[in-house]
Amino acid sequence: MKILSQASLVSGSRALVRCDLDVPLNESGQVSETFRLDASIPTLKFLMDHEVFPVIMGHMGRPEGAYKEELSTKQLIPYFENTLGKGKFELLENLRFDKREEENDLEFAKELAGKADFYVNESFATCHRKAASITGVAAILPAYAGLRLEQEVATLSKIMVEPERPFVAIVGGVKIESKKPVISKFLEVCDHVLVGGKIGMEWTDLVPENLFLPIDYAEDSKDIGDNTIAKFKEVLSSAKSVIWSGPLGYCEGGFDKGTKEVAQAVIDSGAHSIIGGGDTVATMNTLGCLAKFDFASTGGGAMLQFLVEGTLPGIEALN
Ligand code: 3PG
Repeated sequence: MKILSQASLVSGSRALVRCDLDVPLNESGQVSETFRLDASIPTLKFLMDHEVFPVIMGHMGRPEGAYKEELSTKQLIPYFENTLGKGKFELLENLRFDKREEENDLEFAKELAGKADFYVNESFATCHRKAASITGVAAILPAYAGLRLEQEVATLSKIMVEPERPFVAIVGGVKIESKKPVISKFLEVCDHVLVGGKIGMEWTDLVPENLFLPIDYAEDSKDIGDNTIAKFKEVLSSAKSVIWSGPLGYCEGGFDKGTKEVAQAVIDSGAHSIIGGGDTVATMNTLGCLAKFDFASTGGGAMLQFLVEGTLPGIEALN
Protein backbone atom coordinates (compact mmCIF):
# COMPACT_ATOMS: atom_id res chain seq x y z
CA MET A 1 0.00 0.00 0.00
CA LYS A 2 1.42 3.40 -0.97
CA ILE A 3 1.19 5.75 2.00
CA LEU A 4 0.89 9.51 2.25
CA SER A 5 3.40 9.68 5.12
CA GLN A 6 6.13 8.58 2.67
CA ALA A 7 5.00 10.41 -0.46
CA SER A 8 7.01 13.33 -1.83
CA LEU A 9 4.54 16.16 -2.04
CA VAL A 10 4.75 19.04 -4.50
CA SER A 11 3.94 22.43 -3.05
CA GLY A 12 1.03 24.08 -4.87
CA SER A 13 -0.49 20.76 -5.99
CA ARG A 14 -4.05 19.58 -5.29
CA ALA A 15 -5.07 16.38 -3.50
CA LEU A 16 -8.42 14.68 -3.88
CA VAL A 17 -9.07 13.30 -0.40
CA ARG A 18 -11.74 10.63 0.07
CA CYS A 19 -12.85 11.26 3.66
CA ASP A 20 -15.26 9.51 5.91
CA LEU A 21 -18.16 11.97 6.03
CA ASP A 22 -20.80 9.40 6.92
CA VAL A 23 -21.48 10.74 10.40
CA PRO A 24 -24.49 10.11 12.65
CA LEU A 25 -27.30 12.66 12.37
CA ASN A 26 -29.81 13.50 15.11
CA GLU A 27 -33.60 13.60 14.68
CA SER A 28 -33.45 17.09 13.19
CA GLY A 29 -30.87 15.91 10.68
CA GLN A 30 -27.89 17.63 12.25
CA VAL A 31 -24.49 16.04 12.81
CA SER A 32 -24.57 14.54 16.29
CA GLU A 33 -20.99 13.25 16.52
CA THR A 34 -17.80 14.15 14.64
CA PHE A 35 -15.60 11.13 15.46
CA ARG A 36 -15.16 10.12 11.80
CA LEU A 37 -14.58 13.70 10.64
CA ASP A 38 -11.99 14.23 13.36
CA ALA A 39 -10.15 11.13 12.16
CA SER A 40 -9.35 12.74 8.80
CA ILE A 41 -8.09 16.07 10.16
CA PRO A 42 -4.42 15.03 10.66
CA THR A 43 -4.21 14.02 6.99
CA LEU A 44 -5.84 17.25 5.81
CA LYS A 45 -3.51 19.32 8.01
CA PHE A 46 -0.51 17.28 6.85
CA LEU A 47 -1.37 18.16 3.24
CA MET A 48 -1.89 21.81 4.10
CA ASP A 49 1.45 21.91 5.95
CA HIS A 50 3.04 20.77 2.68
CA GLU A 51 1.16 23.49 0.80
CA VAL A 52 -1.11 21.00 -0.91
CA PHE A 53 -4.72 22.11 -1.39
CA PRO A 54 -7.24 19.46 -0.26
CA VAL A 55 -10.38 18.72 -2.26
CA ILE A 56 -12.51 16.81 0.25
CA MET A 57 -15.06 14.28 -0.96
CA GLY A 58 -17.21 11.60 0.64
CA HIS A 59 -20.70 10.29 1.12
CA MET A 60 -23.35 10.72 3.79
CA GLY A 61 -26.01 8.05 4.25
CA ARG A 62 -27.60 6.08 1.42
CA PRO A 63 -29.41 8.58 -0.86
CA GLU A 64 -29.16 6.12 -3.80
CA GLY A 65 -28.52 8.62 -6.55
CA ALA A 66 -31.07 11.25 -5.48
CA TYR A 67 -30.55 14.69 -3.91
CA LYS A 68 -31.60 14.78 -0.27
CA GLU A 69 -31.26 18.10 1.51
CA GLU A 70 -30.53 16.50 4.91
CA LEU A 71 -27.66 14.47 3.43
CA SER A 72 -25.97 17.41 1.74
CA THR A 73 -22.34 17.89 2.70
CA LYS A 74 -23.16 21.62 2.99
CA GLN A 75 -23.88 21.11 6.66
CA LEU A 76 -20.26 19.98 7.18
CA ILE A 77 -18.80 23.25 5.87
CA PRO A 78 -18.82 24.98 9.31
CA TYR A 79 -17.00 21.98 10.82
CA PHE A 80 -14.22 22.07 8.22
CA GLU A 81 -14.01 25.85 8.31
CA ASN A 82 -13.53 25.73 12.06
CA THR A 83 -10.86 23.04 11.94
CA LEU A 84 -9.01 23.95 8.70
CA GLY A 85 -9.87 27.60 8.11
CA LYS A 86 -11.97 29.49 5.57
CA GLY A 87 -10.90 29.10 1.95
CA LYS A 88 -8.35 26.42 2.83
CA PHE A 89 -10.23 23.53 1.21
CA GLU A 90 -12.92 22.59 -1.25
CA LEU A 91 -15.74 20.23 -0.20
CA LEU A 92 -17.58 18.29 -2.90
CA GLU A 93 -21.29 17.47 -2.61
CA ASN A 94 -22.36 14.04 -1.30
CA LEU A 95 -20.94 11.62 -3.88
CA ARG A 96 -23.91 9.28 -3.57
CA PHE A 97 -26.26 11.96 -4.95
CA ASP A 98 -24.81 10.68 -8.23
CA LYS A 99 -25.65 7.03 -8.80
CA ARG A 100 -22.44 6.60 -10.77
CA GLU A 101 -20.48 6.68 -7.48
CA GLU A 102 -21.75 3.32 -6.26
CA GLU A 103 -21.76 1.91 -9.79
CA ASN A 104 -18.00 2.54 -9.86
CA ASP A 105 -18.54 4.33 -13.16
CA LEU A 106 -15.34 5.09 -15.05
CA GLU A 107 -16.54 8.45 -16.39
CA PHE A 108 -17.50 9.61 -12.91
CA ALA A 109 -14.10 8.48 -11.58
CA LYS A 110 -12.44 10.49 -14.38
CA GLU A 111 -14.51 13.58 -13.51
CA LEU A 112 -13.39 13.31 -9.90
CA ALA A 113 -9.78 12.62 -10.86
CA GLY A 114 -9.80 15.77 -13.00
CA LYS A 115 -10.10 17.89 -9.86
CA ALA A 116 -6.64 17.12 -8.47
CA ASP A 117 -3.07 15.92 -9.08
CA PHE A 118 -3.18 12.94 -6.76
CA TYR A 119 -5.57 10.94 -4.60
CA VAL A 120 -5.61 10.14 -0.90
CA ASN A 121 -7.90 7.52 0.59
CA GLU A 122 -8.75 8.52 4.15
CA SER A 123 -11.99 6.59 4.40
CA PHE A 124 -11.28 3.18 5.94
CA ALA A 125 -15.01 2.78 6.66
CA THR A 126 -15.77 2.73 2.93
CA CYS A 127 -12.83 0.62 1.73
CA HIS A 128 -15.07 -2.46 1.40
CA ARG A 129 -17.03 -0.72 -1.38
CA LYS A 130 -15.90 -0.81 -4.99
CA ALA A 131 -17.02 2.76 -5.63
CA ALA A 132 -15.76 5.41 -8.06
CA SER A 133 -14.23 7.45 -5.22
CA ILE A 134 -12.60 4.41 -3.62
CA THR A 135 -11.27 2.04 -6.28
CA GLY A 136 -12.11 4.04 -9.43
CA VAL A 137 -10.04 7.18 -8.84
CA ALA A 138 -7.18 5.14 -7.34
CA ALA A 139 -6.68 3.51 -10.73
CA ILE A 140 -6.39 6.88 -12.48
CA LEU A 141 -4.34 9.17 -10.21
CA PRO A 142 -1.23 8.48 -8.11
CA ALA A 143 -2.92 7.10 -4.98
CA TYR A 144 -1.95 6.97 -1.30
CA ALA A 145 -3.40 5.82 2.00
CA GLY A 146 -4.04 8.68 4.41
CA LEU A 147 -2.45 8.76 7.87
CA ARG A 148 -5.54 7.35 9.57
CA LEU A 149 -6.08 4.61 6.99
CA GLU A 150 -2.44 3.58 7.43
CA GLN A 151 -2.99 3.40 11.19
CA GLU A 152 -6.25 1.43 10.85
CA VAL A 153 -4.58 -1.19 8.66
CA ALA A 154 -1.50 -1.49 10.88
CA THR A 155 -3.46 -1.67 14.16
CA LEU A 156 -6.09 -4.15 13.00
CA SER A 157 -3.55 -6.36 11.20
CA LYS A 158 -1.28 -6.50 14.23
CA ILE A 159 -3.92 -7.63 16.71
CA MET A 160 -5.15 -10.35 14.36
CA VAL A 161 -1.70 -11.64 13.43
CA GLU A 162 0.37 -11.28 16.59
CA PRO A 163 -1.90 -10.50 19.54
CA GLU A 164 -0.68 -10.57 23.10
CA ARG A 165 -2.53 -13.46 24.72
CA PRO A 166 -5.00 -14.17 26.16
CA PHE A 167 -6.77 -12.46 23.27
CA VAL A 168 -10.51 -11.90 23.88
CA ALA A 169 -13.09 -10.84 21.30
CA ILE A 170 -16.42 -9.30 22.30
CA VAL A 171 -19.23 -9.26 19.75
CA GLY A 172 -22.69 -7.78 20.14
CA GLY A 173 -25.23 -5.97 18.03
CA VAL A 174 -28.35 -6.92 16.16
CA LYS A 175 -27.26 -7.90 12.69
CA ILE A 176 -26.40 -11.54 13.33
CA GLU A 177 -25.83 -12.50 9.71
CA SER A 178 -23.31 -9.71 9.19
CA LYS A 179 -21.42 -10.77 12.33
CA LYS A 180 -21.25 -14.54 11.74
CA PRO A 181 -18.14 -14.51 9.51
CA VAL A 182 -16.24 -12.38 12.01
CA ILE A 183 -17.32 -14.59 14.93
CA SER A 184 -16.01 -17.64 13.05
CA LYS A 185 -12.73 -15.84 12.42
CA PHE A 186 -12.47 -14.82 16.10
CA LEU A 187 -13.15 -18.42 17.17
CA GLU A 188 -10.09 -19.40 15.11
CA VAL A 189 -7.68 -16.74 16.34
CA CYS A 190 -8.89 -15.68 19.81
CA ASP A 191 -8.56 -17.49 23.11
CA HIS A 192 -12.09 -16.49 24.16
CA VAL A 193 -15.07 -15.04 22.27
CA LEU A 194 -17.82 -13.33 24.30
CA VAL A 195 -21.10 -12.87 22.47
CA GLY A 196 -23.97 -10.67 23.69
CA GLY A 197 -26.76 -8.60 22.24
CA LYS A 198 -29.40 -10.15 20.06
CA ILE A 199 -26.74 -12.24 18.33
CA GLY A 200 -26.33 -14.16 21.57
CA MET A 201 -30.05 -14.93 21.71
CA GLU A 202 -30.34 -16.10 18.15
CA TRP A 203 -27.31 -18.41 18.16
CA THR A 204 -28.26 -21.89 16.99
CA ASP A 205 -24.91 -23.25 15.78
CA LEU A 206 -22.53 -25.50 17.66
CA VAL A 207 -20.96 -23.88 20.73
CA PRO A 208 -17.20 -24.51 20.82
CA GLU A 209 -15.25 -24.33 24.09
CA ASN A 210 -13.87 -20.82 23.57
CA LEU A 211 -17.31 -19.31 22.84
CA PHE A 212 -19.27 -17.70 25.69
CA LEU A 213 -22.92 -16.94 24.97
CA PRO A 214 -25.18 -15.14 27.49
CA ILE A 215 -26.39 -17.43 30.26
CA ASP A 216 -29.10 -14.99 31.35
CA TYR A 217 -30.82 -11.78 30.25
CA ALA A 218 -32.23 -8.67 31.95
CA GLU A 219 -34.73 -5.92 31.10
CA ASP A 220 -37.06 -8.12 29.07
CA SER A 221 -34.09 -9.52 27.12
CA LYS A 222 -32.93 -6.03 26.12
CA ASP A 223 -29.67 -6.49 28.03
CA ILE A 224 -27.43 -9.31 29.19
CA GLY A 225 -28.04 -10.48 32.77
CA ASP A 226 -25.91 -10.25 35.91
CA ASN A 227 -24.56 -13.82 35.70
CA THR A 228 -23.44 -13.20 32.12
CA ILE A 229 -21.79 -9.93 33.13
CA ALA A 230 -19.97 -11.73 35.95
CA LYS A 231 -18.78 -14.50 33.60
CA PHE A 232 -17.58 -12.00 30.97
CA LYS A 233 -15.73 -10.01 33.67
CA GLU A 234 -14.01 -13.18 34.88
CA VAL A 235 -12.80 -14.03 31.36
CA LEU A 236 -11.62 -10.44 30.80
CA SER A 237 -9.71 -10.18 34.06
CA SER A 238 -6.66 -11.93 32.56
CA ALA A 239 -6.98 -10.54 29.00
CA LYS A 240 -3.92 -8.99 27.36
CA SER A 241 -5.65 -7.98 24.09
CA VAL A 242 -9.32 -7.23 23.45
CA ILE A 243 -11.23 -6.47 20.28
CA TRP A 244 -14.87 -5.40 20.54
CA SER A 245 -17.61 -4.80 17.98
CA GLY A 246 -21.26 -4.22 18.87
CA PRO A 247 -23.01 -3.17 22.11
CA LEU A 248 -24.13 -6.05 24.38
CA GLY A 249 -27.65 -4.72 24.93
CA TYR A 250 -30.13 -2.27 23.41
CA CYS A 251 -28.06 0.74 24.45
CA GLU A 252 -29.95 3.28 22.35
CA GLY A 253 -33.00 2.46 24.45
CA GLY A 254 -30.97 2.98 27.63
CA PHE A 255 -30.30 -0.71 28.37
CA ASP A 256 -26.57 -0.26 28.69
CA LYS A 257 -25.70 -1.79 32.06
CA GLY A 258 -24.03 -4.87 30.53
CA THR A 259 -22.04 -2.83 28.01
CA LYS A 260 -20.98 -0.36 30.68
CA GLU A 261 -19.80 -2.99 33.16
CA VAL A 262 -18.02 -5.04 30.53
CA ALA A 263 -16.36 -1.86 29.17
CA GLN A 264 -15.10 -1.12 32.68
CA ALA A 265 -13.77 -4.68 32.94
CA VAL A 266 -11.85 -4.23 29.68
CA ILE A 267 -10.38 -0.96 30.92
CA ASP A 268 -9.50 -2.44 34.35
CA SER A 269 -7.77 -5.42 32.73
CA GLY A 270 -5.17 -3.08 31.22
CA ALA A 271 -5.36 -5.14 28.00
CA HIS A 272 -4.53 -3.54 24.66
CA SER A 273 -8.05 -2.69 23.51
CA ILE A 274 -9.61 -1.99 20.13
CA ILE A 275 -13.25 -1.15 19.51
CA GLY A 276 -15.07 -0.54 16.25
CA GLY A 277 -18.42 -0.01 14.59
CA GLY A 278 -20.65 3.07 14.59
CA ASP A 279 -22.95 1.87 17.38
CA THR A 280 -20.09 0.75 19.58
CA VAL A 281 -18.21 4.02 19.23
CA ALA A 282 -21.39 6.06 19.82
CA THR A 283 -22.25 3.99 22.92
CA MET A 284 -18.76 4.30 24.41
CA ASN A 285 -18.92 8.02 23.71
CA THR A 286 -22.23 8.30 25.57
CA LEU A 287 -20.83 6.23 28.44
CA GLY A 288 -17.86 8.62 28.56
CA CYS A 289 -15.23 5.92 28.08
CA LEU A 290 -14.32 6.14 24.38
CA ALA A 291 -10.89 7.67 25.10
CA LYS A 292 -10.05 4.85 27.52
CA PHE A 293 -9.71 2.31 24.70
CA ASP A 294 -6.36 2.18 22.91
CA PHE A 295 -7.88 2.44 19.46
CA ALA A 296 -11.37 3.08 18.08
CA SER A 297 -11.74 2.04 14.45
CA THR A 298 -13.76 4.31 12.18
CA GLY A 299 -14.96 1.24 10.29
CA GLY A 300 -18.25 -0.59 10.72
CA GLY A 301 -18.84 -3.19 8.00
CA ALA A 302 -15.38 -2.39 6.62
CA MET A 303 -13.71 -3.30 9.90
CA LEU A 304 -15.55 -6.63 10.12
CA GLN A 305 -14.63 -7.50 6.53
CA PHE A 306 -11.02 -6.45 7.07
CA LEU A 307 -10.72 -8.62 10.18
CA VAL A 308 -12.03 -11.63 8.27
CA GLU A 309 -10.18 -11.13 4.98
CA GLY A 310 -7.09 -9.17 6.02
CA THR A 311 -7.59 -6.65 3.22
CA LEU A 312 -10.29 -4.67 1.37
CA PRO A 313 -10.83 -3.58 -2.27
CA GLY A 314 -10.01 0.06 -1.42
CA ILE A 315 -6.73 -1.00 0.17
CA GLU A 316 -5.81 -3.27 -2.71
CA ALA A 317 -6.41 -0.35 -5.07
CA LEU A 318 -3.53 1.51 -3.36
CA ASN A 319 -1.04 -1.24 -4.11
C1 3PG B 1 -20.29 3.04 7.02
O1 3PG B 1 -21.11 3.78 7.57
O2 3PG B 1 -19.91 1.97 7.53
C2 3PG B 1 -19.67 3.49 5.73
O3 3PG B 1 -19.93 4.84 5.53
C3 3PG B 1 -20.15 2.64 4.58
O4 3PG B 1 -21.51 2.88 4.36
P1 3PG B 1 -22.41 1.90 3.46
O5 3PG B 1 -22.61 0.65 4.25
O6 3PG B 1 -23.66 2.67 3.21
O7 3PG B 1 -21.62 1.62 2.20
